[in-house]
Amino acid sequence: MSTKTAFITGTTSGFGLAIANRLASLGCNLIITGRRRERLETEAADIRSHYGVEVLPLCFDVRDREVCRQTVESLPERWKQIDLLINNAGLAAGATPVQDGDIDDWERMIDTNVKGLLYISRFVIPLMVKRKSGHVINISSIAGVEVYPSGNVYCATKHAVNAITKGMRIDLLKENIKVSSISPGAAETEFSLVRYHGDQEKADAVYKGIVPLNAEDIADAVEFIVTRPPHVNINDILLTPVRQANTYVYHREG
Ligand SMILES: NC(=O)c1ccc[n+]([C@@H]2O[C@H](COP(=O)([O-])OP(=O)(O)OC[C@H]3O[C@@H](n4cnc5c(N)ncnc54)[C@H](OP(=O)(O)O)[C@@H]3O)[C@@H](O)[C@H]2O)c1
Repeated sequence: MSTKTAFITGTTSGFGLAIANRLASLGCNLIITGRRRERLETEAADIRSHYGVEVLPLCFDVRDREVCRQTVESLPERWKQIDLLINNAGLAAGATPVQDGDIDDWERMIDTNVKGLLYISRFVIPLMVKRKSGHVINISSIAGVEVYPSGNVYCATKHAVNAITKGMRIDLLKENIKVSSISPGAAETEFSLVRYHGDQEKADAVYKGIVPLNAEDIADAVEFIVTRPPHVNINDILLTPVRQANTYVYHREG
């Protein structure tokens, strides 16, 4: 792959971190983002020394519309030549029947997974349109295809991501901008720990008796998508662990 610049949200752990390393291994310069500054700085230094690419770490919250705007607008000119936008930052918060749902958790998911993705897209995509070139990859979920018990609002946010992805694909067709998504099933990252508000036992139970996906599996999907020839667009890659049939049917060992 010729030298490209990728803007990846949520790279302080999980998929984002693996995707950042993978794209760096392919020679991309990176803008990496997240709220945990220390992790971002360490990651930037590690990636620079391992892969010899340029890395710009930007610490901000995707829920803050004005900060998203200022962050993108104040990028140095050469960093505005963004070839790849990976909208990855996101989370599940809680898993509760809708009638008992924590409204603060709902707001966090909607504000991050839907509004945050839209803010970043709104400010980055015009830079691609100007150059008539680019590729947006939205990290969705199997939860965007099917719902599951107590998954209500998280599933709604990922259904929204899928609608936004399809809408983007239509709107950006004439701009020569590819739009793809990745829809993973259960993957072991910090995702479940965040979902269960730090309860390690509940987080571990999600992966009990299965071999979950890992962040490298998602980086593999990204690598496949970005290395297709110019005339090919991968619309979506849906991948699950072997022991997961859909959002709620698992075959657990033991
Ligand atoms: N793991 C799974 O089973 C799974 C399956 C399907 C889809 N997904 C999706 O994959 C994406 C990545 O999740 P993951 O599994 O890699 O989880 P993770 O390990 O918890 O990583 C989430 C990343 O998002 C960032 N983030 C969260 N809220 C943010 C905010 N308000 N502003 C900026 N950054 C924010 C976090 O950084 P900071 O905390 O430093 O801000 C972190 O880098 C999410 O969209 C998730 O919904 C995950």
